[in-house]
This record gives sequence, structure tokens and C-alpha cells, in this order.
Amino acid sequence: MMNKKIVFATNNRHKLDEIRAILGDSYTIVSMNEIGCCEDIPETADTLEGNALLKARHIKTHYGYDCFADDTGLEVNALNNAPGVYSARYAGKAKDPKANMRKALKEMENQPDRSARFRTVIALITGEKEYFFEGIVEGKLLEEARGNAGFGYDPIFVPEGYTETFAEMGGEVKNEISHRAKAVKQLKRFLDTDFTL
Ligand code: IMP
Repeated sequence: MMNKKIVFATNNRHKLDEIRAILGDSYTIVSMNEIGCCEDIPETADTLEGNALLKARHIKTHYGYDCFADDTGLEVNALNNAPGVYSARYAGKAKDPKANMRKALKEMENQPDRSARFRTVIALITGEKEYFFEGIVEGKLLEEARGNAGFGYDPIFVPEGYTETFAEMGGEVKNEISHRAKAVKQLKRFLDTDFTL
């Protein structure tokens, strides 16, 4: 079978590796750098869907390629789903993950409902058509950080059915069960079955 090529609207090494591992050999994932796009596309929408679509549309409009883009947020029930789409900038423009975690823990002080989820949305544009794929992991927030692996809010999030945080279980287990992995698997199923690139 012919190898299918598709642009992933990111220059994040970690995401590229993860997605290439999940999609396997039948797809060539092309990064933004590889199509000559080194910009930081502004994420100005107020939903994950909106930001994912904004990034994918930017590539489609300015570079002409079919492509997909993702956006992820931590949604905390007791905080009305904050930080959500603002997860990266929760504690300010510096996008400091430690400061973000400290803020989340502070906002959740003495809060008995610790339930939260990570949600990833992928927007795919092919020709004139736009599609969305979603991956969710339910879990709870701890009262203090545990573990050193991973990134972002990983040290304070324990996924449902586990006792370790994402930062304690390490990448191999996390990447099997994560929100991003689930969204990418949805995308893969679509590309494998419903769609000819
Ligand atoms: P992005 O959309 O993947 O860039 O993610 C936005 C923000 O959500 C990141 O800056 C992190 O703070 C947080 N985030 C996304 N994915 C994860 C994850 O897998 N673990 C922990 N935090 C994450």
C-alpha cells in the first residue's frame, strides 16, 4: 500500500514522536518546519475545538496542505472546567508549568470534589472538509505533586483506575492510555477506514 502523507500542525518534538509511533509506518507525518512554517500560530479561540481548527486552517490557507492540529486542556469540575483551553497560560503568559500547577493546587485547596479530566481535540482538514476527533481521560487531582516524568500537570493528575500520577507511571504507560493517544487512535481509525489521502 502506498504511504500516505499528512501535515501535523506542530513543531513540538514530543508530540511528533508520539503521533508517529501511534500512526505507524503507513503514514508519513510532516511537521510544520518541514513545510517551511516556523511561526507560532496564535491560539486565540476560547475552545479547544476552536484553537485546533485555527491552527489547521492556518496551514491549509497559507501553505495549501491537508493537515491536522491538536489542542489539549485540563478540565477541573470544581473549577467549572478551568483551566481548560487556558491550561498552558493558567498562571500567566510565561507558560510556566510549575506555576500553573501551584495555581491549580491553590484554587483546589480544601475542595472535596477533586474530579478532573484531560481532553484533547484534533481538527483534520482535507480538501474542503473539516473533521474533529476527541480523546478524554477522567481522573482526579492530588493535593500535592508526585513524580518527575511527563510534563505540564502530569505530577498532580491520577487517571481513573490507577494509583500513580501520569508523572509517576512514565511515558510508556501514559502514552497507552492518554487523552492524546485516544484522540490520535480515533484519527487513525478514520484515516485507515473512511478516507483516501
Ligand atoms: P497543548 O494543547 O498540547 O499544547 O497543551 C496545552 C497545555 O495543557 C500544556 O501546556 C500543558 O499545560 C497541558 N497539557 C497538555 N497535555 C498534557 C499532558 O499530557 N499532561 C499534562 N499536561 C498537559
